[in-house]
Amino acid sequence: MEIVSAKYIISSATYKQCPGPDKPEYAFIGRSNVGKSSLINMLCNQRGLAKTSATPGKTQLINHFEVISKDGTKKGTGRAWYLVDLPGYGYAVTSQKSRNNWANMIESYIRKRPNLGCVFLLVDSRHTPQTIDLNFVQQLGEWQVPFVLVFTKADKNKPGATNRNVKSFLDELQKTWEELPPFFVTSAIDKTGKDDILDYIADINAE
Ligand code: GTP
Ligand code: MG
Repeated sequence: MEIVSAKYIISSATYKQCPGPDKPEYAFIGRSNVGKSSLINMLCNQRGLAKTSATPGKTQLINHFEVISKDGTKKGTGRAWYLVDLPGYGYAVTSQKSRNNWANMIESYIRKRPNLGCVFLLVDSRHTPQTIDLNFVQQLGEWQVPFVLVFTKADKNKPGATNRNVKSFLDELQKTWEELPPFFVTSAIDKTGKDDILDYIADINAE
């Protein structure tokens, strides 16, 4: 599948302000600074579509982007769907109040958005498994939301080190999960994982 165009639609403070749920939707979440906005730009071939920053906490609202894609068949031509950039968790400088606001906003959005086809949970591939990420996986499990894992910033490490961190994370999950979720290894710099993620979305769109 290829993305033909992508445009910013709206930033919402609650799920109630989001656009009508008339298209399939895919949301990107994960720790602040993990690379959610950069990955969205990489997938859409547009550097400045989602705002990125070296300082954590850049994305504060639920950001909708409308994407038009084609998958090489006439049937799939001009298909429209939403990509959603969400604010990250684990930003140390924020107050308890804003953490609560974040938790409420994210929980309602993830649990109530009827067209949300899959959550992409991003994890920094440079680190050994972090409790905050493992806890969020458990949370998604409790909410019974379909999700996949995306290990980001693979360009920053040797492949061996990336693979070790990915394996450790999956090993941790295996302690409580019977079935592991699909996972992708990505780099927004060298576009690793782009085609695999777009094909995965195309498959869900086609269902
Ligand atoms: P918040 O909106 O603050 O939660 O962050 P985010 O998860 O959207 O991260 P963002 O995309 O803004 O990227 C954070 C920083 O990491 C920026 O300086 C990016 O340039 C950098 N970055 C993101 N993805 C990659 C990657 O694949 N490789 C490298 N080397 N840097 C990356
Ligand atoms: Mg962001």
